[in-house]
Formats: sequence, structure tokens, C-alpha cells
Amino acid sequence: MKIILVGAAGDIGQAAYQELAARHDVVTVGRTTGEHHVDVTDIDAVKALYRAVRPFDAVVSCAGDASFAPLDAFDQDTFMVGLRQKVMGQVNLVLAGLDIIADGGSFTLTSGVLDRDPIRMGTNAATANGALAGFVKSAAIEMPRALRVNVVSPGMLDVSAPRYREWFRGHKPVLSHDVGLAYAKCVEGALTGQVVVVE
Ligand SMILES: NC(=O)c1ccc[n+]([C@@H]2O[C@H](COP(=O)([O-])OP(=O)(O)OC[C@H]3O[C@@H](n4cnc5c(N)ncnc54)[C@H](OP(=O)(O)O)[C@@H]3O)[C@@H](O)[C@H]2O)c1
Repeated sequence: MKIILVGAAGDIGQAAYQELAARHDVVTVGRTTGEHHVDVTDIDAVKALYRAVRPFDAVVSCAGDASFAPLDAFDQDTFMVGLRQKVMGQVNLVLAGLDIIADGGSFTLTSGVLDRDPIRMGTNAATANGALAGFVKSAAIEMPRALRVNVVSPGMLDVSAPRYREWFRGHKPVLSHDVGLAYAKCVEGALTGQVVVVE
């Protein structure tokens, strides 16, 4: 398969890359890293990426910023970061790809643990994660041409613990290898409309 992997240089992206690149042609994408540079919040740039890379069988997104702040410190602008980046950036990848991805292709997005196991300052990311779960569940029933869509929801990765553990006290890090397997299950399996939890 030819797979477009957005956010390939990140911690989650690397986990997905290690698993998928062993068997597939993986095209790496990032804002400033990878073979193609695209900001996924710009749907026209996403469409241009797809036209440049076509034909392709799968899109995997491991990208999406959110704001981290105490609830009473958020305002509309800071809260919109997660909605614009993590939600709409990934939704754009699906909407722009519906008529260009190969028949039977798949979209795999990334959310995270915070909507089921919240931490302080995590409300923006938790909200984005919940939105993505709703998106894939609903979008799956309307996908044309046997296309599929899922979201992987990992806990804090082992490799990310040095960056995040101060905020995730008591959370058990998940193995990057197991996170990679979740992306393989979504891309190479038959699931659709699912939140694939990795804990
Ligand atoms: N790491 C964890 O433990 C963990 C656990 C659960 C969920 N998550 C979620 O998984 C996602 C990725 O996390 P991460 O830790 O792997 O992040 P990361 O290490 O910071 O990497 C993010 C990657 O996404 C790319 N990217 C970000 N925004 C983009 C945009 N608008 N357009 C195109 N590419 C973009 C970045 O590219 P450039 O570097 O080129 O900008 C980078 O390659 C986040 O939504 C995070 O909340 C992470």
C-alpha cells in the first residue's frame, strides 16, 4: 500500500512509521519535516498534497496541537487551537480525501487518553479527542466506495514520558510498539468508525 503519514517525525508518527514502513510505501508529511510540507489546517494545501502524491491507499494522521492551560485561563482564541489544529486539521484530511483516495482506502486519525482519563489543564485536548470520536463514528456510516475511518487513542507514550510525565503523574506509559500496532490494525484490518484505545 501507499500510505500518507502526517506527523511522521513526531513521537506517535515514529511509532506508526516503524510499524507501517516495514511493509508499505510510506510518504512522510509534516509542517516543516518529512518529504512533503503541509499545514493540515489549510484544506487547499491538503488537496494539493493529495494531487501530488496520488494514487494512495491510506492516510494516517499523527498530528494535532492543543492548548494546555487551567480551565479559567482559557479564552476563545486559546481554546480554538485544539479545535482548529487537532479537530479540523484531521477532519480536513478526510474531507479532502474522500474523492481522491483509492477505493477501499482508509483514514486513521489520532486522539488520546484525555477524554476518558482527564488531567489538569487538559480540557482543550480532551474536547478535541471527544469530537474526533464522534466524527469517525458518524462519518463511517456515510463513507463512499468502501472507505473506512478510525481514530487511535493512545495513553502517554513511553518515548514521550520525559516531555509529559510531570502532567501525567500516575499514568502508565504505553509502549510505542503497541501504538504502532494500532495503526496497522486500522490501516490493514477491516475496522471502521472505531476508537482504537491503546493503554
Ligand atoms: N505523545 C504522546 O504521548 C501522545 C499520547 C496520546 C495522544 N497524543 C496526540 O498525538 C498527536 C501527536 O503527538 P506527538 O507527541 O507525536 O507530537 P509531536 O512529537 O509534537 O509531533 C507532531 C507531528 O505532527 C506534525 N504536525 C503538527 N501540526 C501539524 C499541522 N498543522 N500540519 C502538518 N503537520 C503537523 C509535526 O510536524 P512538524 O514537526 O514538521 O511541525 C510533527 O511531525 C497530538 O495530537 C497529541 O495530542 C500524543
